[in-house]
Amino acid sequence: MTTLTAAPLASLLDRLFEEADGTSPMAVPSIAAMSREDHERLMRSKTDYVEFYGRLKDLPLPVSRATGKLLYMLARGCGARTIVEFGTSFGISTIHLAAALRDNGGGRLITSEFEPSKVERARANLEAAGLADLVEIRTGDALRTLAVDLPDTVDLLLLDGAKALYPEILDLVENRLRPGAFVIADNADYSSDYLARVRSAAGGYLSLPFDEDVELSMRLG
Ligand SMILES: C[S@@+](CC[C@H](N)C(=O)[O-])C[C@H]1O[C@@H](n2cnc3c(N)ncnc32)[C@H](O)[C@@H]1O
Repeated sequence: MTTLTAAPLASLLDRLFEEADGTSPMAVPSIAAMSREDHERLMRSKTDYVEFYGRLKDLPLPVSRATGKLLYMLARGCGARTIVEFGTSFGISTIHLAAALRDNGGGRLITSEFEPSKVERARANLEAAGLADLVEIRTGDALRTLAVDLPDTVDLLLLDGAKALYPEILDLVENRLRPGAFVIADNADYSSDYLARVRSAAGGYLSLPFDEDVELSMRLG
């Protein structure tokens, strides 16, 4: 058994994913009213992300179930003790990563979210999961909150906040990534400069697209 598949997580995650399945950005009138082009533009914007995610503040927008399992497996497989996450939302991905830390014998997960109501929900979910002791949620724009006080070494970085900021967030964490560290970027297709960087021969990563819209990269030594 693992922390992920045992009580209380198994049923908690079932419930959280089921609740998420019952929501859609298209149920938010201001998002539904947007043209496809405007939606694409906002997803790729390095300046309008606060407004965009503000409209989505009541939605969990989690990683898929498969990506959640992948996160747990990668964190377990590399023996992660230090993890940084960009984009907490309701804490579903955070729970998968913190479960891996627990099963690795402990560690520290720093995660970042700028919507205060989401931070409260994530905190409650992490308490219910029995994992709150492993997680520090930094409230505010990750461009600021992840710019300070990171561990010397980071074993895994999850990028799942505003897609256009993936290169800037990688800049903040990159010099802490140990050789062999994993960087997982969800919906990375919205950040072509990020993909170009991690896929370039000189970029310092081995990288490949994985499953639905996930870019999986490994830091080279
Ligand atoms: C796709 S959701 C994250 C889902 C979460 N990783 C999960 O799987 O449960 C993206 C979240 O990132 C937050 N976010 C976006 N840009 C951010 C930024 N610059 N700083 C902090 N949080 C940000 C949004 O408010 C939103 O809750």
